[in-house]
Amino acid sequence: LADTVAATPPMGWNSWNFFAEKVTDADVRAAADALVSSGMRDAGYVYVNIDDGWQGERDAKGVIHPNARFPDMKALADYVHSKGLKLGIYTSPGPKTCAGFTGSLGHEAQDARSYADWGVDYLKYDLCSFIEDQMQAKAPHDPAQQMRLMTGAYERMHDALAATGRPIVYSLCQYGWDAVWEWAPGAKVGGNLWRTTGDITPEWDRIYAIASQQAGLASYAGPGHWNDPDMLEVGNGKLTPAENRAHFSWWAMLAAPLLAGNDLAHMSPEVKSILGNREVIAIDQDPLGKQATRAYAEGEVEVWTRPLQHGGMAIAVFNVGSERHAGTHPFRLNLAALGLHGTQQGKDLWSGKPVSLADQQTIALARHDVWLVRVDAPH
Ligand code: DGJ
Repeated sequence: LADTVAATPPMGWNSWNFFAEKVTDADVRAAADALVSSGMRDAGYVYVNIDDGWQGERDAKGVIHPNARFPDMKALADYVHSKGLKLGIYTSPGPKTCAGFTGSLGHEAQDARSYADWGVDYLKYDLCSFIEDQMQAKAPHDPAQQMRLMTGAYERMHDALAATGRPIVYSLCQYGWDAVWEWAPGAKVGGNLWRTTGDITPEWDRIYAIASQQAGLASYAGPGHWNDPDMLEVGNGKLTPAENRAHFSWWAMLAAPLLAGNDLAHMSPEVKSILGNREVIAIDQDPLGKQATRAYAEGEVEVWTRPLQHGGMAIAVFNVGSERHAGTHPFRLNLAALGLHGTQQGKDLWSGKPVSLADQQTIALARHDVWLVRVDAPH
């Protein structure tokens, strides 16, 4: 919860996008092993996050126990820690989680204590049944009161986690309710990240819809508190290599948490090289913590920029073209629209090659692909 736990956007893996509610202890261990063997841990991916589906029942004292797929949570945490990684877990403020497992309503302090005892380092708190069970039930016609109930729930778990004394990243999952605590009077929710959208799916249209919704949110993000456009789908579904690259680049530009959501133990070399691109990761993890903004859009091309430490700048050009415009999209980059004057020297972070950027120069960009450049001394 302290700003030190998420000084840069959290990086790691989460079980949901690939394994959903059927995740097992063995899946989590395999993901931890793969983070190490793939080199991803050393590139910064340290959180191994179990999402919905681990929960069993409460005992007579109200203590939560994992279900049969997770025989020993403390042993699992020890295993993850022994690999130089951290463990994340998931619950909901309502009576049930989204997938219908036991939620934390009325047991917040007790659950926070259990997580701390197991050695948990990250908690995702997923709104779900709290909406019907509390917000709609207690204030059916009063959105402002519903909002207060929601922020109250997030504050309660914040305080419960803080009371354990263990540093735990606090991830708020409240879908389209946006970053309400940034403007709701008196709300001190204390999340290190919060969802800015509904769920991602491994499809270009959904990824693009989420990415474009992030324009205008940059001012809410910074060290210790990040906008969360949901977890990565790189390597899932039928995303093409260009789409995987563009998705990953966009999330890096957005200073988004980089939580891989694929089956790490069976990923292709191409997916591994995308997730492992250290120069793109460095954009995401830039210590300045300034999220990208959309500089301009022209036809089906979007240009986003992000200020970097030491006066640098990342420039990302996306061809978001629809089916109608399949193929290469000729595009001229307008440097003045980015506040730049004359030729710039940079590095193309996907080819790894130095580039010289002249004003109005043509960029050939295939459909759904990205051109990502870092300029160290923009002028
Ligand atoms: C909804 C969240 O947005 C997803 O990321 C995932 O946590 C599911 N709930 C789990 O039920």
